[in-house]
Amino acid sequence: MSKSLISYDAECMLETYTPGALASGVFQEMQPRLQYAKKQVINDWKNGHQGWIGCIDDRQIHNRIKALAQKNRRYKTCLVIGIGGSDLGSRAAYQALQCDAVGMKLEFLGANTDPDEIEQVLSRLNLKTTLVNIISKSGNTIEPMVTFAIVWERLQKVVGKKAALQIIATTDQSKGYLHDFAKKQGIEMLPVPQNIGGRFSVLTSVGLFPLACAGISIEQVVNGAKSMRNEILKQKTAGDAGRFAALHAMAMVMQQRNIHVCMPYHSKLEGFSRWFRQLWAESLGKKYDVNGSIRNIGPTPIASLGATDQHSQIQLYMEGPQDKCITFIEVKNFSSTLKVPTTIKEFPALGFLSGVQVSKIIHAERKATSQALSEAGRPNGTIMLERLDAKNMGALFFFFQFATGIVGSLLDINPYDQPGVEAGKKAMYAILHK
Ligand code: PA5
Repeated sequence: MSKSLISYDAECMLETYTPGALASGVFQEMQPRLQYAKKQVINDWKNGHQGWIGCIDDRQIHNRIKALAQKNRRYKTCLVIGIGGSDLGSRAAYQALQCDAVGMKLEFLGANTDPDEIEQVLSRLNLKTTLVNIISKSGNTIEPMVTFAIVWERLQKVVGKKAALQIIATTDQSKGYLHDFAKKQGIEMLPVPQNIGGRFSVLTSVGLFPLACAGISIEQVVNGAKSMRNEILKQKTAGDAGRFAALHAMAMVMQQRNIHVCMPYHSKLEGFSRWFRQLWAESLGKKYDVNGSIRNIGPTPIASLGATDQHSQIQLYMEGPQDKCITFIEVKNFSSTLKVPTTIKEFPALGFLSGVQVSKIIHAERKATSQALSEAGRPNGTIMLERLDAKNMGALFFFFQFATGIVGSLLDINPYDQPGVEAGKKAMYAILHK
């Protein structure tokens, strides 16, 4: 078997290294339940209920996405309008892979109804050279649809009747206001598959079309996700993603460690942390279990960033309540080989760093933080990837989506619905109508 793109070092999640953490024997006892959860997640795909495991095989849509991005390559900018699952994935991937982008510059709106932000972004755009990608599965989400209405009006003023040609609507294939509007106006559409929820849609047109516009290889992203998926399918166990899921579910249920921190040591993964935060929160925070019993269960995810948050959050993680599990993400190879210059010797206490690669410092910071947390009895684990490229990002997205499905099954909840979000949307409509 080829080497895995992503690995998970869970040593410090267990009591061998971290006093008071889960005993490894308990984790072993959990294996049959974990196997069952893996089967359940895969069955949901095989029986057609969930499409996120198989969407990466849809070559037809990938070719269409690439062709559509190619057809529109004359535009300088692509304005992506969406919120939540229709926004966070492409933002995260673009931030991580922007260095490889050779196409349009991506701008994002629709994730807030902050009028100042909308004006600010629109004022720096030349609408004549901007392609607009409105993304909303339902087509009735207030934030992106209000933003889109503003953009549509301005675009018409600038380019007149040709406005529709400058828009791609990514939405449900058969219903919804956006679908109907796009059909009426002759706006080209890309599908959000019905059996894929927003936060599991980064590997569909939702995340892939903006990336294709930016000139990032969606083939590589998809290949990375496939390689992660195929590895999980081949394994007898649930793999590293399953282990990650099981340890977090057990830490929650058995030790009330309900706060799950995602702390990548790479600035370009800050958006990824935010994507994880939504995936974990919206999927796993539920009132009812699958049998309809009230559980009010769910982890609280925290999006953190190393090494920055060592000087903002680590004090709390180290000495605060024993209610957290921390996950570091380490990218082994940085692009830059930047070294600390000899001028550092001007600061005597730091002189020993002269000539040291800066990447070595960030790796040491992660390792030291992990070690210190373990010594303080704070469970933590590290997800490792070789480098930040399209393939690894695809694998990383898939790893966390799979882990989320597994935790859902282990907790006996449905990770794919979001009645709480829908309730909020309804209440907002009611207030605004008044
Ligand atoms: O994960 C989800 O389902 C949500 O976060 C949605 O993506 C978000 O509410 C946006 O919905 P829509 O794409 O329908 O505008």
